[in-house]
Amino acid sequence: MAEQKALQLEKAKGSFVISTVPILKPGPGQLSVKVITAALNPADWKLQTLGVFIQKYPAVLGTDIAGDVEDVGEGVEGFSKGDKVFGQGFQVNEMGGFQQYILIPADIVGKIPSNIDYAQAATIPLGFTSAAVGLLREQPGGAGLNPNFDLKVNLSGQSAIVVGGSTSVGQYAIQLLKLLGYSTIIAYASARHTDYLKSIGATHVIDRAEVPADSLAEAAKKIANVPIKIAFNAVGDKDSRAACIDAIVEGGQVADVNPQSKDVDPGNGKRIFPIFGGSHHPPHRDFNRILWKTLPKLVEEGKIVPNRVEKLPNGLAGIDEGLQRLKAGKVSGVKLVAFPQETA
Ligand SMILES: NC(=O)c1ccc[n+]([C@@H]2O[C@H](COP(=O)([O-])OP(=O)(O)OC[C@H]3O[C@@H](n4cnc5c(N)ncnc54)[C@H](OP(=O)(O)O)[C@@H]3O)[C@@H](O)[C@H]2O)c1
Repeated sequence: MAEQKALQLEKAKGSFVISTVPILKPGPGQLSVKVITAALNPADWKLQTLGVFIQKYPAVLGTDIAGDVEDVGEGVEGFSKGDKVFGQGFQVNEMGGFQQYILIPADIVGKIPSNIDYAQAATIPLGFTSAAVGLLREQPGGAGLNPNFDLKVNLSGQSAIVVGGSTSVGQYAIQLLKLLGYSTIIAYASARHTDYLKSIGATHVIDRAEVPADSLAEAAKKIANVPIKIAFNAVGDKDSRAACIDAIVEGGQVADVNPQSKDVDPGNGKRIFPIFGGSHHPPHRDFNRILWKTLPKLVEEGKIVPNRVEKLPNGLAGIDEGLQRLKAGKVSGVKLVAFPQETA
């Protein structure tokens, strides 16, 4: 059987090692993809550090990949060997992104449009799906702003706030709100990201060094043309959550990246809910099928732009250091992207 290199987490809370593992054949409905780029996410260091959710060790982490179709499983239509694709892996070893070949269900894979490269494509899957599920999908999983991902929906005149505008997820939330026609999109981020965030759709940027989280709601309400009905919390800590709840009007909603938000009662008819951004997550699967059909066209038309990229050296061996930088909060406004085929 053909073999490949994989970055494996040896045991719960353990270290990463590079191992040789078989390249598996795709099952029915699956693609085998040669992984050219794999993006890093905070979830990867959290899974390593906390030792939760993983059923079996050694484990291959990593969700966001782009690459070339290597093999096509039974029943798959619309993909052939050599197609350039991007998609989201999952927490079972054959679907982990930090390896040279991955299996992935074809219904949640997109073809990479010609205006972006593999590294840019890998920045999109988890960040974009998290923003889309949180904002668009029907309640209770989402805010229900556009449950069928209908590109004709227009919510012009409305105001929204994205706390953590420079995060990967936050950048996609800003772009989706722009796509929905929101008139006022307030981003809370470091001032150095102002021009970039305005270029992707933010109408106002509140500098987080100047305005502390406990004054954010007041500052946002002053800017908003109409009361804010939707806040997207891409930071997920207690202070950012409190600011989001305070910023929205009675009956408004907060989409929060942190699962712990499910335990919060914001009162005043306000609603807060946790986002589960995975493309594979069964309750979101129908929505995500539509998403993956729509997304490549939006990227091709420049309506959704990828995150800015920092390329990591040393193939799979460079990932550990990248995750440590993410954990230390030393990554700002860019996505770290590794190149698994460059593994020594
Ligand atoms: N629930 C889900 O399905 C799901 C999916 C994806 C991500 N997440 C979670 O969502 C969060 C964001 O993930 P990501 O990949 O988008 O992160 P990321 O891009 O790695 O986030 C880095 C950015 O966070 C910003 N930041 C940190 N603290 C902030 C604060 N207090 N206020 C405003 N901005 C702040 C930094 O901004 P500056 O540059 O301004 O310093 C930096 O640009 C993580 O906690 C992640 O685990 C959840």
